[in-house]
Amino acid sequence: MASSLRRRSFLHGFVVTVAASNMVGCEGSFSEEPEDQDRVYPQGLGSGDPKADSVILWVRVEPEDETGAIPISFEVATDEAFEDIVASGDLEVTDAADHTLRVKVTELAPYTTYFYRFASRGVRSITGRTKTAPAADQDVNVRFAFAACQDFIGRYFHSWKALAQEAEPVDFVLFLGDYVYETNGDPDFQESGSERTITITDGIELLEDDPNVKGASTLADYRGLYKQYRRDADLRLVHSLYPFICIWDDHEFANDCWQDHSTDFNDVEGDEKNPDRRHAASQAWFEYQPADIEFDASAAPPDDLSIFRTLRYGKHVELIMTDQRSYRSDHVIPEGADPESRPPGAPDTVPPYSAAGKSTLFENSEVFSRNFVIKAGFDPIEAFVQPTMLGAAQKEWFLDAVKKSDATWRVWANETQLVQMLIDLTSFDIPEIFKGIYYFTVDQWDGFRSERREILEELAGLNNLVALTGDIHAFYAAEIHVDPDDVSDDPVMVEYVTAGISSSPVQEIAQGVVESSPLLEALTDLVPQFDTILQATSPEYIYAKSLIHGVSIVEVEAGEMRVHFLQIADVKTKEWDGSVEKVSFRTVSGTSRVESL
Ligand SMILES: [Fe+2]
Repeated sequence: MASSLRRRSFLHGFVVTVAASNMVGCEGSFSEEPEDQDRVYPQGLGSGDPKADSVILWVRVEPEDETGAIPISFEVATDEAFEDIVASGDLEVTDAADHTLRVKVTELAPYTTYFYRFASRGVRSITGRTKTAPAADQDVNVRFAFAACQDFIGRYFHSWKALAQEAEPVDFVLFLGDYVYETNGDPDFQESGSERTITITDGIELLEDDPNVKGASTLADYRGLYKQYRRDADLRLVHSLYPFICIWDDHEFANDCWQDHSTDFNDVEGDEKNPDRRHAASQAWFEYQPADIEFDASAAPPDDLSIFRTLRYGKHVELIMTDQRSYRSDHVIPEGADPESRPPGAPDTVPPYSAAGKSTLFENSEVFSRNFVIKAGFDPIEAFVQPTMLGAAQKEWFLDAVKKSDATWRVWANETQLVQMLIDLTSFDIPEIFKGIYYFTVDQWDGFRSERREILEELAGLNNLVALTGDIHAFYAAEIHVDPDDVSDDPVMVEYVTAGISSSPVQEIAQGVVESSPLLEALTDLVPQFDTILQATSPEYIYAKSLIHGVSIVEVEAGEMRVHFLQIADVKTKEWDGSVEKVSFRTVSGTSRVESL
């Protein structure tokens, strides 16, 4: 061990900040047996939010008989043998943060690979690898992964294995949300009863006829989700290889949530304001994700945790990450609304909700209020309500961050889909009542089309804007126009949407919805034509694949950005057959166009 020069370590929220020259601890003998490592560190380790001079290290220690603080030491080195140690320290974990540890190591060198490990309870952890960001003026190509939506119930994380097996490493992994799902058997998209299941200790019951189906409710529940997901070997492996940059979407709290409200669940749980539940969800996210932000335990949502932030990665990449859940308006059409009613204060010139499809046949349902909404009726209602996805303050911050960045590429980490997702059923041989043009879901930007237009008008004329998106469980590549209904002008930006790591593909969900109600049976034959209908209705799509899983890789250079969709067909079989289909695109600098490679 190098000589120990103890510098000041200080507590910063739950983050312990340690300068790279701080060296102490990790002496003595420790077991490195895999079964001991698995017992003491069942969630593995990880790192996150790499900056040019710092990175966050993360680990959790499983307590045994200890009731108080558990000592833990860490080491950071430039070599895997830990001969050149640049930082180390003695710290402790407590039940206040569920025995998780966050260490911010500072004064590191830019664009440098580091190795790190921990020692606690007589056992040394595996070695993690991480990498700092290049300095803002460093002219280096960047290769990173982006991913979203890793439902655990009955599904395996083969997509992560595919990423780990890539011959060329990535610099970091951008995770766009739905890291955990708050339910253990939502019949809309989860199949309970599999051997791969999740236990929710407290929870709220979500189905009248099945007390085993629950949604996370308490802090113990949300912590339990992360603890169980993070035991997955493939997920642990990618966390040990690459730093993660994480934002959340809805399922880290509740399906289709807005602010501190969960939405209706299968006619049992209504739209419900629950700041304590939101606070618990945010705290657990913060404890388990190595993000370089602070949690204020004494503040109420959304002031307890702000996840929107930027991260500069060398000369060519500015990551601009938004939060599309904490500040958004309610959905324009409430699930429980009287179909013949209008938004509060709306004049008679605004059509009633029934014009958008709202029906007493689907009372208290997301069908025809959030999903499958008639465009012609919805658009004037939305134009009157003017809902916000980002909230005024975040929108101002976002536009400013995009405009002022001098990076070659401005990459928007955008949770929910930007490109219009329309389904035109007017020409099919189906009952007259279904012949319309529908938004597939207005939980995404289609439900906030006035604000989307405002943002695109503000950003039109800037070069090299790229939205990277998750949420919808499909691979899409699209060119985004100010007016999605008139694509005669030049696009403003491109969007690449990544499918779920494992979550039920959107076409599979659509099939489930159609099969769930005899009223929708007439649409069954249309589901296999999902992508054809989507692309025929919306010319912004260059590519669409809606029945698939996987992970995406981005390669950034000064002159172009390439995106590779690594497509994995089967995630329900435990053993992966190793097959990956790679589909690739590029956007040339200055074009806002998607080209197939
Ligand atoms: Fe998802």
